[in-house]
Amino acid sequence: MLAVEVRDLSKTFRSGWFPRRLTRALRGVSLAIPRGAIWGLLGPNGAGKTTLLSILATLLLPDAGRVTVLGHDVVREAGAVRSRLNMASGNSNFIWSLRPPEILAFYARLYGLYGRALARKVDDLLALAELEPHRKVPYHELSTGLKQRLALAKSLVNDPELLFLDEPTLGLDPDVSMRMRAQIKALREERGTTILLTTHYMREAEELCDEIAFIKSGQIPARGTADALKRQIGIGDVIALRLDPPSCNRLADLPGVLECTSQDGRMECIVDSADKRLPEILRWLHEQGVVVRDVDVHEPDLEEVFVELAK
Ligand SMILES: Nc1ncnc2c1ncn2[C@@H]1O[C@H](COP(=O)(O)OP(=O)(O)O)[C@@H](O)[C@H]1O
Ligand SMILES: [Mg+2]
Repeated sequence: MLAVEVRDLSKTFRSGWFPRRLTRALRGVSLAIPRGAIWGLLGPNGAGKTTLLSILATLLLPDAGRVTVLGHDVVREAGAVRSRLNMASGNSNFIWSLRPPEILAFYARLYGLYGRALARKVDDLLALAELEPHRKVPYHELSTGLKQRLALAKSLVNDPELLFLDEPTLGLDPDVSMRMRAQIKALREERGTTILLTTHYMREAEELCDEIAFIKSGQIPARGTADALKRQIGIGDVIALRLDPPSCNRLADLPGVLECTSQDGRMECIVDSADKRLPEILRWLHEQGVVVRDVDVHEPDLEEVFVELAK
């Protein structure tokens, strides 16, 4: 059963009168997210991540294409899905002078909670987000990490089946983002929540997501598990060499060598295929009288894939 199904989705923003500017934020996006998945949208700034999430969350209308969320069309049956999903943004902003319990109560009231049920819900969320010690602190005095946790807690007021998290660890310190990721994983394990998150941190997508879609300029040129994504793009292998003398710029001119860098006394060559190029490179170095002290071949990590695709 699918939680989200998107076919040929397009969205163009029109802004200004003269000159009239058109931004094609989404250009024929298709994807399918199974229930219970943690799915990642990985892409650089301006790729269309927030636009896509906003359409899925019924906050923005698509121009063309079909979007089905929890079995309902997001345009014709928006009302049927709104109460079953929610969204949190790493860029959230709440009223500066309100305290966490007041902010959570405000959102809980929107879903019809009142009286004792409302108070219990607020307490539960404060506990979940570990915000109890900060009950009395006005929003604008909270640290970025606490603000993000509050945004996540707010998105759970209606116990959503489907949760959209827009850059949930934006601007967080490494240890704080690690705890945030643990919390996201726990949501799926304990509540079975389907989660679609956006990020521009490849490590985060790799750690959290069953499947990753790479989005760039409103299109999804690659998708799959982190491993599949790397294979699919085929940007090659990395051959790391320790040489004597230590650097050899002419390596970059050999056939099949895509890129060559030198750092810390090591040369790193990205090649189309290590199986094919390693013997050729070793033979050539031998002919040049260069001694090879050490060789290491490895797959490029997601970060390199990202850099390559983001160009
Ligand atoms: N309301 C808007 N009006 C005009 N252009 C917009 C609007 N929202 C987003 N855009 C443009 O659409 C593109 C995609 O934006 P966005 O979805 O926010 O990307 P991301 O979240 O991946 O950084 C960008 O070029 C952005 O400037
Ligand atoms: Mg965004």
